[in-house]
Amino acid sequence: MDNLSDILLAIFLTTLSTWYVKFLWSRRHLYLHAWNVPGPLAFPIVGSAYKALRSNAGLIEVFNEFYEYPGIIKVWFSTKLWYVVFEPKYLEKVFTSPDLLEKPHDYKRLTDIIGDTIFTPSVKKSKRYRRAVAPIFYKNAIDSYVKGFAESSADFAKVLRSLAGRKDLDVEMLCLRYTLDTTCKSIFGFGVPVSGSEAGEHDYGYCLRKVAEISTYRFVRIWFNVKLIYNMSRTKQEIDKWNNLIHAHILSMISTARRLQEIQTNSEDSKNGNSKYESDFFKSFIRGSEYTEEEIVDTIKSLFSAGVDTAASVLCSTLMMLALHPDAQQKVYEEVMEVVGHRQIEHTDLQHFRYTEMAIKESMRLFPPTIIFARDSTGAVNLGEYVLPKDGAVVIFPLVIHRNPTVWNDPLKFDPDRFLPDEMAQRSPYAFVPFSHGVRNCIGWQHAMWNLKTAIAGIIREVKVFTGYQSVEDIKLNCELVLTYTHGSKLWFEPRE
Ligand code: HEM
Repeated sequence: MDNLSDILLAIFLTTLSTWYVKFLWSRRHLYLHAWNVPGPLAFPIVGSAYKALRSNAGLIEVFNEFYEYPGIIKVWFSTKLWYVVFEPKYLEKVFTSPDLLEKPHDYKRLTDIIGDTIFTPSVKKSKRYRRAVAPIFYKNAIDSYVKGFAESSADFAKVLRSLAGRKDLDVEMLCLRYTLDTTCKSIFGFGVPVSGSEAGEHDYGYCLRKVAEISTYRFVRIWFNVKLIYNMSRTKQEIDKWNNLIHAHILSMISTARRLQEIQTNSEDSKNGNSKYESDFFKSFIRGSEYTEEEIVDTIKSLFSAGVDTAASVLCSTLMMLALHPDAQQKVYEEVMEVVGHRQIEHTDLQHFRYTEMAIKESMRLFPPTIIFARDSTGAVNLGEYVLPKDGAVVIFPLVIHRNPTVWNDPLKFDPDRFLPDEMAQRSPYAFVPFSHGVRNCIGWQHAMWNLKTAIAGIIREVKVFTGYQSVEDIKLNCELVLTYTHGSKLWFEPRE
């Protein structure tokens, strides 16, 4: 009997070792290319995943450790090889490589939040949906939204005036309501006016924040890669709850848009050819027959999840930076008064808000809303001194790129002049990547910039902004799907005369 169990054990161990050797052999190209790339200690199976198991706020400390490496780091996360790249010379190769266009399948785990159309890993499939939503982002279309942005920013300023003097406001939630309102107007033609009411499940923005928080928790715990463990966890129940609420919000927006469209189609105005809600996008995408209902819902979900939280994060960080730097705030105020005074902001004004734009970009440099994005390598990519092999992946942390001391002098100093044309000409375009670059860059970047300029101008001419923070270092960050602040925005407002 003893002999039999010894034999069985020997067979088992031999099979296991043979399988393991075969597994390593099939991946030899990964080890060969990665051996000279510096990186943290990696253990079999778990790789360097232990590094990500610190608290969310602790990830910032991990980011700071990156600067000990020469702009590129090899990280084994479980059995997958990732290169974290943050030096512009490597980033240029990354963003221009035809072999780095596919998103990793890890994005699939976020399908409930970001949809599986534009954000889908396959670049070929994604292109079809990018084309479908392109009319929303045509230059003429964006110009036409500025009227709506201006009305919303005036409403937002009124809410802030009504809350004057009150400290510890949940400004992040108000910013989310503003960007939800304006994004909704651009896509559907109707808004969801900004209000100062309590946040809760009825708030799309609140649900988005909740799901982002819990999904980040899930992402860094590799045992949730095992479906059975994840399916039995409370984390899944929580994520499902918030995702269902988000789904219901999106369905309700689409059905309101269709109802309004119906009313409009039957109205006299429409019969005379003056349809308010009939955009090219609406005609071809929502009313056309080329896309299924599921594709429509998924794509609208992608636009909202990609555009609302991110723009809100920049609005909030710009207000925080202007509050922390009264000189810069005064310059923005003077520029706005010189260009528009108290009249309604129009799209032709936006090109003259030069300092305001630089202040927004500098805030986005210090606090880039998209914490992380990644690409799979479908072929070997030559990065100069190093090669990223096929079946690896590259990961981009804009925060690390934007605070890299070898590129940005005194990186934690808020200095909008860094974005003066002469200064920018001396820096690689890959040193500033809040919207990513290349084929799969942000489709909504110009919408975001126009919206943010209108919002900041509309707010700063009405109220003065103050903060309880003493410095940029003081602001502790949470690395969720979108950047948030551990201690909130700590802002308060006083009306201008
Ligand atoms: C300041 C605001 C914004 C920032 C910082 C930002 C940033 C980004 C980044 C970094 C990506 C690449 C993500 C990845 O590769 O995984 C991205 C993609 C995307 N963004 Fe934005 N975004 C902003 C606003 C918007 C807005 C307003 C919209 C639309 C209303 C939008 C729609 C999208 C879409 C649809 C994608 C996916 C593109 C693709 O995969 O081909 N974004 N954004």
